[in-house]
Amino acid sequence: APANVGVIGLAAMGASLARNLARHGNSVAVYNRHYSRTEKLMKEHGDEGKFYPAQTVKEFVDLLERPRTAIIMVKAGAPTDAVIDELVEYMEPGDIIVDGGNAYFKDTIRREKELRDKGLHFVGMGVSGGEEGALLGPSMMPGGSDASWERLKPILESIAAKASDGEPCVMHVGENGAGHFVKMVHNGIEYADMQLIAESYDLMRRGLGMTPDEIGDVFEQWNKTDLDSYLIEITAQVLHHKDPQTGKPLVDVIVDHAGMKGTGTWTVQTALELGVPVTGIAEAVFARGLSSQSELREEAWKQNFAGPDGRIELGSESREDFIERIRQALYASKIVAYAQGFNEISVAAKTYGWNIDMAHLARIWRAGCIIRAKFLDRISEAFESGEANVSLLFAPFFKQGIENSEADWRKVVAAAAESGVPAPVFSSSLAYFDGLRSKRLPAAVIQGQRDLFGAHTYQRVDMPGTYHILWAEPGQEEVKMSD
Ligand code: 6PG
Repeated sequence: APANVGVIGLAAMGASLARNLARHGNSVAVYNRHYSRTEKLMKEHGDEGKFYPAQTVKEFVDLLERPRTAIIMVKAGAPTDAVIDELVEYMEPGDIIVDGGNAYFKDTIRREKELRDKGLHFVGMGVSGGEEGALLGPSMMPGGSDASWERLKPILESIAAKASDGEPCVMHVGENGAGHFVKMVHNGIEYADMQLIAESYDLMRRGLGMTPDEIGDVFEQWNKTDLDSYLIEITAQVLHHKDPQTGKPLVDVIVDHAGMKGTGTWTVQTALELGVPVTGIAEAVFARGLSSQSELREEAWKQNFAGPDGRIELGSESREDFIERIRQALYASKIVAYAQGFNEISVAAKTYGWNIDMAHLARIWRAGCIIRAKFLDRISEAFESGEANVSLLFAPFFKQGIENSEADWRKVVAAAAESGVPAPVFSSSLAYFDGLRSKRLPAAVIQGQRDLFGAHTYQRVDMPGTYHILWAEPGQEEVKMSD
């Protein structure tokens, strides 16, 4: 058989990945449910390397060298299961099936187990970087057996994005669902990051009355600071873009309903299951949800509620100074979003038995993926040295970053609240930070309430055991319920 690897599913991501593989010297079997897509790929890009088009799944499998490696790039959910079922008919023990879609990690855990029982290796691989990344170098997060990683490593390293020091952006994340899990959290962080940028935009647009062009210039400037990142860079590009039909700023003609395909929601659902507060990510998901509730928003608009109109009162402060405060608030909130995301990964690793090298994970996010950013170098160092073991926020570099930004962060959250510009991720990240650094929280009040209405008991600060007050009895005495 001629092909050392195969790709099933030749939509945007699959076709780009197949081309990337072929361009790096792999011989690539390609298959798509509708053959016209395969023909299109062959016609437009067949000369970029060695492709072997297949018309049926059987033909595809027969084209693969044993032990076989097939990468599935189809929609997550039922379509992925359908393709796996077809492949399994023809594949043999020792073969590897890689799922490069945005699968839900629990599906990956289930599929890995089912295929392991048949002697096959199943690898759930997060792939980030969109279509361009898939073609020119994505960041990849495979999870699966050590044996499968050994065979995949040279192939994946050849096509991965390379960080500035040349390190390929791919690693063996852990067993079964670990790869898809970290990709899911990557997307959660992506949501928070995008929402923070959007909130910064809104504060400048409505709050300071700036034009999209002016704000685009600000993001361009910010991209030369600690905030240097792909998302900041493309935001500047979006804001500078003019609508070809009307000549208006593109951002003004785009309907303000943010779409989502589910990975952000999963990040939050999973965090709730694991008991990890990922408040920034959750607020980012909810903000997209609110933006898309068009009827409710329309009705609310008609209510014409009393309240400020979004203009920020600068007083004696210059616009430039306030813009710098927003930048600081963005930086601090972004650190919180990453800290929460990494916290979710470390709790999941314990729960699911994955051994994830966090420093390495931060390194493979330095290039290729959507959240690539300069400060991932620092995150990686913080994990490497052990400083971030408990929380990224405690690593001296980030602690200092937060401390430097803290006063500006508060001013921005206060100005947002006073002017009526919603800033849910800015404010919830600040509340998380303040919650963490509080010696005592009002949770004691909640425990008191719970004990009163439901005899849920409480613990005391001064002695061990669980206690309950006999609230309904005349003496309202305390009884010890357990040691
Ligand atoms: C990436 C992206 C990618 C994608 C998601 C997000 O890492 O390359 O995260 O996976 O853009 O589909 O999509 P939604 O915003 O539609 O949820």
